[in-house]
Amino acid sequence: MRLKDKVAIITGGASGIGAALAAGYAREGARVCVADIDFELAQKTAAAIGLGAFAVRLDVTQRASIDTCIAAVEAQAGGIDILVNNAAVFDMGPLTEISEASYERVFAINVKGVLFMMQAAARAMIRQGKGGKIINFASQAGRRGEPLVAVYCASKAAVISLTQSAGLALIKHGINVNGIAPGVVDTPMWDQVDALFAEFENRPRGEKKRLVGEGVPYGRMGKPEDHVGCAIFLASAESDYVVAQTYNVDGGQWMS
Ligand SMILES: NC(=O)c1ccc[n+]([C@@H]2O[C@H](COP(=O)([O-])OP(=O)(O)OC[C@H]3O[C@@H](n4cnc5c(N)ncnc54)[C@H](O)[C@@H]3O)[C@@H](O)[C@H]2O)c1
Repeated sequence: MRLKDKVAIITGGASGIGAALAAGYAREGARVCVADIDFELAQKTAAAIGLGAFAVRLDVTQRASIDTCIAAVEAQAGGIDILVNNAAVFDMGPLTEISEASYERVFAINVKGVLFMMQAAARAMIRQGKGGKIINFASQAGRRGEPLVAVYCASKAAVISLTQSAGLALIKHGINVNGIAPGVVDTPMWDQVDALFAEFENRPRGEKKRLVGEGVPYGRMGKPEDHVGCAIFLASAESDYVVAQTYNVDGGQWMS
């Protein structure tokens, strides 16, 4: 077991990739906090995993909610060793029609949430004095802009940059900060992505999803479980010398 007795927080752990990571970390012996704004679903996800997991209500856009989450994990599990910043939202639309509300929502969750979750977890890890691991979920969308996806792409480029800066700042405390950039993954988020592409590119529902899947060099869309191996590696001692990197786990979509 590569994460035996480690305590992990997974933001957005109730569904999609986060839920797969929560189950994968628990299988490796970690105590897992499923931290999500959808508390009911977080409780269901934690209950399905069993004794190794518990749910905490978290809104990553609210500093008070972040502090409450960290305090709850310290109280229930005795500390924190691993943070996975996985919570995010998607939006898209023509550049000439992007609203301030959409920009603010996407950046509040995808960027501000990542920064202040890292800050709160790093403070706790530094207090504990035994290092830690932080894994940030970026995206292939952060590697390159897309005409209809300016804000989400920019938010994920910001995650890659924050991962670099935090990685360099925190390694002196024995805290490794790295990222994972998925490609296209069949989760509830992609159902929304497909519906939005159908609207803005005037396509039948399901067509965009089928096309992007066919375009992946591996031959299909990603599944949440495809990200678990890399996320376990980045949370384990095996990655101690890996600093400030973002790994593409995308079936061959992007090379960098
Ligand atoms: N699905 C894809 O194709 C894809 C591709 C590239 C990157 N990613 C990234 O992978 C990560 C997981 O994506 P997913 O597809 O599993 O998403 P998802 O929509 O299935 O799950 C996201 C989770 O985040 C939670 N969440 C939303 N706002 C929150 C908030 N303010 N505070 C706390 N939790 C909140 C949701 O309740 C949900 O459980 C995200 O960072 C996403 O950007 C996904």
